[in-house]
Amino acid sequence: MFRVRTILVAVLVVAALASAGLVLWWVFSVDGTLGLYQWMPSYRVAFYLVGLLGVLPALVALTAVVVGRFFARVGRIVIVLAVLLALVGIVVPLGVAGYIWQTSTELAGTTPPVLLVQDGVGAHGVPDLALVFRTDPASQNTLYYGVDDLSESVTEAQPTGAHVMVLRDLQPATRYQWRLNDGPARSFLTPATDPAADVLYHFGASGDSHFGADTAQQPQIAQSILGYVRQPAHQFHTFFVLGDIADMGMENDKWTFALDTLSPFSYDVPLRPFLGNHDTLINGVEHYFAYFYSSGMATPQGTSRYYRIDAGTVHVITLEMLWGVDMFTPQQKEWFIRQLESIPATDWVIVMMHSMVYSSGIKLEGIPWYDPADMIREVAPLLEQYQVDLVLSGHNHHLEFLQHNGVSYVVVGGLGGPLDPAPEYRSPASLWYRDGTFGFADVTVRPERIDLEFRDATGVELQSFTIGQNQ
Ligand SMILES: [Fe+2]
Ligand SMILES: [Fe+2]
Repeated sequence: MFRVRTILVAVLVVAALASAGLVLWWVFSVDGTLGLYQWMPSYRVAFYLVGLLGVLPALVALTAVVVGRFFARVGRIVIVLAVLLALVGIVVPLGVAGYIWQTSTELAGTTPPVLLVQDGVGAHGVPDLALVFRTDPASQNTLYYGVDDLSESVTEAQPTGAHVMVLRDLQPATRYQWRLNDGPARSFLTPATDPAADVLYHFGASGDSHFGADTAQQPQIAQSILGYVRQPAHQFHTFFVLGDIADMGMENDKWTFALDTLSPFSYDVPLRPFLGNHDTLINGVEHYFAYFYSSGMATPQGTSRYYRIDAGTVHVITLEMLWGVDMFTPQQKEWFIRQLESIPATDWVIVMMHSMVYSSGIKLEGIPWYDPADMIREVAPLLEQYQVDLVLSGHNHHLEFLQHNGVSYVVVGGLGGPLDPAPEYRSPASLWYRDGTFGFADVTVRPERIDLEFRDATGVELQSFTIGQNQ
């Protein structure tokens, strides 16, 4: 009887240890958690607590063994305490992780179609587009498109709930009309590939919409910015959302709010949103993959986390940089270098990532959110060595233009998330800074130069710069 009881206690104690270990392993294996631990000290206590719930029953059980040798009755009481703690140590971490997993994998049955740019390049030198949406119940759809009429079409082979309808091999510098089933006709413009064209690629970019945050000014700011971008006279080809789309990635309603707001604008100017640290919290990547890089979309040159978009002689490389270099794995670094090496020196190379390389900013919980040492040490030398022309980031919620060793940097976290206060630190690389203002970067890539305009949320120009080839 004594032996059975001892084995039972030992099993429970080991199970509590295993439960905490399993939960911590899973949580730290998903994108962004390591960065959360490193950059936000106030959140570390939650991870310590899970570890404590695993270790404490074992410590109490050992104490019971020692105490029981001298005071048998006290030892029995302490063993009961160890058993109770073990039960808590098994149930609480698994319960919390189960809740996070369930919430982070919950998807909307039906979502509005969103027109997205995908990795790679079509047969005529401009990127393919994908119309992505979900329906419940399953449905079978036809996408009509064409230049002067809707003479071409894509029809799904069978009814499905997760739709990815790809517009392949588009012609450059062409305005296409398109229509889903019997919906209204819309149109978008493709980039140019003729090296002598006046405008090669015209895109807008801003980050940090933080949909769902109490302090975010949504949907008004995103609607105002994209309302300017979608006007036919402004002739944008793409709008990039530089991460922190949702305020808390594991919560599905933040993503449906983002989709409901952003989707209608993508019908005129296709979108390319990518991951920021908030999008990944915790296991939020599942939502991103379902809504903005669906598994049916192609990744011929990258992955659904980091990829390369080619438009003629303009190459956009997006990296998964969430908090800093926490996700800059050897694989991602090797892929990044391979892309940089493969692009001719005379072409334009534009790198986009959520976290910034050079930036002014403030301290948060004692940690500087400016000129981040890890990014400057590990990423800046690559950008300089391969003569990257322009880098765009969000993460800090202000507008800024910087230059360092030939590389131009834009920080533009102005898509609606709460704005940062005035900076405590001004980067030596900084040439222009604006806090307290929502806005976006309006980037026109021409054969000989890049015209960069910072605009506020209504489209009014705040500041402009001309960027030459970095060579
Ligand atoms: Fe942000
Ligand atoms: Fe961020």
